[in-house]
Parts: sequence; C-alpha cells; structure tokens
Amino acid sequence: MVVLGIESTAHTASVGLVDERAEVLAVASDMYRPPHGGIHPREAANHHVERLPELVRHALEQAKIRPSEVDAVAFAQGPGLGPCLRAGATVARMLALAWDRPLVPVNHCVAHVEIARILSGLDDPLLLYASGGNTQVIAHARGRYRVLGETLDIGIGNFLDKLWIELGGTFPGGPALEKEALEGRELLPLPYSVHGMDVAFSGILTATLALSAKGARRPDLAYSVEVTAYSMLTEITERALAHRGRDAVVLGGGVACNERLRTMVRTMAEGRNGTMFAPPRALCVDNGAMIAWTGHLAHEAGVSVPVEGSAVEPRQRTDLVPTPWRTG
Ligand code: ATP
Ligand code: FE2
Repeated sequence: MVVLGIESTAHTASVGLVDERAEVLAVASDMYRPPHGGIHPREAANHHVERLPELVRHALEQAKIRPSEVDAVAFAQGPGLGPCLRAGATVARMLALAWDRPLVPVNHCVAHVEIARILSGLDDPLLLYASGGNTQVIAHARGRYRVLGETLDIGIGNFLDKLWIELGGTFPGGPALEKEALEGRELLPLPYSVHGMDVAFSGILTATLALSAKGARRPDLAYSVEVTAYSMLTEITERALAHRGRDAVVLGGGVACNERLRTMVRTMAEGRNGTMFAPPRALCVDNGAMIAWTGHLAHEAGVSVPVEGSAVEPRQRTDLVPTPWRTG
C-alpha cells in the first residue's frame, strides 16, 4: 500500500510517498521564500502550481515507484491559505482522476501529530504542535484531537519570523534566531504571557523591539526571546500532562526543530519520569510524507471524497476533524 501526499498549506510545496508501515519512501519539497516581508498568498500559490508537477515526478523517481503502484492520493485540505491549498488540491484531484485512485482529504495539523505519533512509537502521547501558524497542546479524546491550550494571538513560528525580519533578518526567522541565540549572554526581561492553558506572543514582540531600539544586543534579544517563549510552551505542556495524567509528549511542527525547545520539553518530561520524542527535522517542518501517512490512516478507515466534494477548508480546526482510525 503506497499513498502519495501533497502538502501546500503555506510556504512549502511538498510531495511525499509513504507505505503502510510508515516507511517514508520519498519526500520532495520546495519552499517559497518571499523576497521581503511576509507571505503573499497568491505568489506562494503560483510557486506551488509551478513546482508541484515536478515534485510529483521527483518523489516517484526517488521512491522508484510507478504511478500504477500508488494506491491513494491524499492532500492537505486545511487549515492554510486558500490559494495555496487550492494549488495542492488541484494537483491531487488531477492525479486521482488520471490514475483512477481514491482522493483522501487530510487535516494539516492532524498530519503533524500523526507522523510524530507513529515515529515515536507511543500510542497515546500528548502533543505540542508548534509551527508557523499554529501553537497548540493537543490530546486525543473521544474520536477527536482536542486542543487543550493554544496561542491567543499569533503562532510561535510566525512570531519568530516577524521578529527576525524586524531585527533585520530574512524569512525563515526561527532557525536564524536559534543560531543567533547561541551567542547570547544576558537574559533580558520580557513579558511572560501564560494564561491558564494558553499563551500569547505579541507582547514579547513589542517588548523585544523596544529593547532593540534602546540598543540591546541582537544575540541577547534572540536568547531572551527563545528562553521566554519556549518556557511558556514548556509550562502549558507540563500543565496539560499533569491534568491529563499522561507521561509522554511528542513534538511536531517547524518550531519543533529547535534544539532549545526540544531540550526544555525533554527536561520537563523526564523530570516527571516521562518521555519526550521529536521527529527528525525534515518531518517536523511541513512535508508531503505526513499528509501521505495520515491519508493512509484515513483511507484504511474508509475515508475518501469525490472530486466535487473535495473543496479546501482554509479554517478547518484540529478538533473538528473525525479520526476514525483511532479508537478511544
Ligand atoms: P502550519 O500551517 O502548521 O502553521 P507552517 O507553514 O508554519 O505550518 P512549518 O514548516 O510547520 O510550516 O513551520 C515553519 C516555521 O518553523 C517557521 O516559522 C520557521 O521559522 C520555524 N522553524 C523552523 N526551524 C526552526 C528552528 N530551528 N527554531 C525555531 N523555529 C523554527
Ligand atoms: Fe505545518
């Protein structure tokens, strides 16, 4: 059983091929990098339209798989930017029709969670999903992934990207800020914004830019931002573990690439006699393999849609998507 998955929710166009054992047979990705500032949805969508056909070819070549060996075509249905989602969905519909294979819609957030879960080998972990647009603590209960806590304003990655651009850098900010933070020496005071199970980042953004205007060193700013923001995420993850009586946590989303975040969450989990797992970086960031794997799970559980019922859902929420492949 081989599933082809297409990811195109935001910056990244990606095609993945996965088999029934979650063996990643291929991932071919290409990221749209805005020349300056934030993402322009239609320009990103044009990038995806141009690149996806070639990425499909690359993925098939990498995996040494013929189209006739692909059993289903999965695509990210939402959440994401409308024009970007439509670019990926159009390619997926075309392949499903041309190859006469089922078309399987996948929620992007659930896909981050499922790839992390299968790779971790943990059956029912708590999930910290930290990406550009999303920041959520998630647990499965009664047929759905439930959001226990989340950002009240912007996603952590978008916050890091925006901050880094304001400090003179370019997209993506998260990895660059991580390097810069290694040179940081002083922990500067920044607003620590935890509200119960939720977090907020815009106050840190404003405060950091104010400190920068007063001449604070950029490495110190980067270091302070990382320590503050990742402490907030670690705190709500610990609270969720305590409330749900769990001991295992997995990380997903692009910000889960961050070594400091990984270490902080691991230290917290191990301090509670629990465990932490983070997927390899290529599978933390947006990728077609996670869509393919979740498509496989959904397809096995009988999920597929006709082309005319395959509209994208830019605001599709994690907790509104049924997960018939999971029991409990
Ligand atoms: P989503 O739709 O799930 O929000 P996304 O489009 O934001 O997805 P991802 O690939 O999941 O895409 O995450 C990208 C984000 O991850 C960017 O904001 C980027 O700065 C951030 N990121 C990547 N690597 C690191 C890192 N090492 N440290 C911190 N942030 C990182
Ligand atoms: Fe993502």
